Amino acid sequence: LFRCLCSNSFSRPSYTPSRISDPSYVRIFDTTLRDGEQSPGATMTSQEKIAIARQLSRLGVDIIEAGFPASSPDDLDAVRSIALDVGKVSVGEDGHIPVICGLARCDKRDIDMAWEAVRHAKWPRVHTFIATSEIHMEHKLRKTKEEVVRIATDMVAYARSLGCSDVEFSPEDAGRSDRKFLYHILEEVIKAGATTVNIPDTVGYNFPSEFGSLIADIKANTRGIENVIISTHCQNDLGLASANTLAGSNAGARQLEVTVNGIGERAGNASLEEVVMAIKCRKDLIGGLHTGVNAKHIVMTSKMVAEYSGLHVQPHKAIVGANAFAHESGIHQDGMLKFKGTYEIIAPEDIGLIRANDSGIVLGKLSGRHALKTQLSELGYNVKGKELDDVFKRFKEIAEKKKHISDEDIEALIVDEIFQP
Ligand code: KIV
Repeated sequence: LFRCLCSNSFSRPSYTPSRISDPSYVRIFDTTLRDGEQSPGATMTSQEKIAIARQLSRLGVDIIEAGFPASSPDDLDAVRSIALDVGKVSVGEDGHIPVICGLARCDKRDIDMAWEAVRHAKWPRVHTFIATSEIHMEHKLRKTKEEVVRIATDMVAYARSLGCSDVEFSPEDAGRSDRKFLYHILEEVIKAGATTVNIPDTVGYNFPSEFGSLIADIKANTRGIENVIISTHCQNDLGLASANTLAGSNAGARQLEVTVNGIGERAGNASLEEVVMAIKCRKDLIGGLHTGVNAKHIVMTSKMVAEYSGLHVQPHKAIVGANAFAHESGIHQDGMLKFKGTYEIIAPEDIGLIRANDSGIVLGKLSGRHALKTQLSELGYNVKGKELDDVFKRFKEIAEKKKHISDEDIEALIVDEIFQP
């Protein structure tokens, strides 16, 4: 009963990038190709980026942040190619074409390059940012608050003046910025034409309750906020990125910035699969919020990103780790064999996972007789009574010494214990 019966039907309201009228619809903004690529060692080729962008489009993300065009000629080329490819033609069954976004500092050259790269897309977006915390303004930018507000508003207006009607603004390090200053700069960029305001917890410093109240306070105290989309961008330095992102959506954010497998700078970002599946699984807690992601493409997308970025997924990673749907202890295996909902809250097939055996049972030293008997019968051996006792005893001895017990090990046991004269 408590297993997430995620039907694979998904709904996306008819699209105009920043203004989907359904108030419960949460846009998924994927930044695997931008923030994700900022993970040390994760550089990808243009061809790999285009392939990932196609997969993200198939997955149904609303916005693909395809790169940071001013950072290198290769990045500009890759973003332009993505804009001309998945930014123009649907790859899915439902005609969906995602917004293609390019990142730019609050700087004319950056904005020109971002616009040049994304403008070919059906739905182009420029995302510009400047830091707003005391520590960043003083030590990194060496600018006053007034200067920062002026630069931000000028650059948002500049992006609009190029013909870009979808401009996102981020006050970098918002999680450590003064709230009153945040309300002020956000009001000014909204007046200058920003259509989405993104609230980054750039150094992953916030707690979920704190980040949720930051979003709620911005919503309550910023004039003009009702005309734009509030977004979250949470880094994972304290392992709280997905929790903070969910707290943000509970408090009114309707765009969530995430990466596949949670890759990104330092400890990474909120992970797409965790955030999307939490929203799907806990509708009861999250007030009917929903996304346009077609979850059955999650596993394939995760594998593709791991392969191309070279960042392998830890086995116990939520949703997409190799062990996320594997059961080794005897008590759990017994429960799973009786009813899958006992130890699984998501049906693996709903995220596109095909398991080698239907119950996800992995034999090891903690496994019980029930699991061994089931595995034996899947291999075609009907073993019971005294024979099963003997095989189980031998199995336990081997399992003490071996981390992974394969089907071949089990078959060898049968041959030794039963078929030997
Ligand atoms: O972490 C951050 O603040 C960012 C912004 C550019 C959104 O990546």
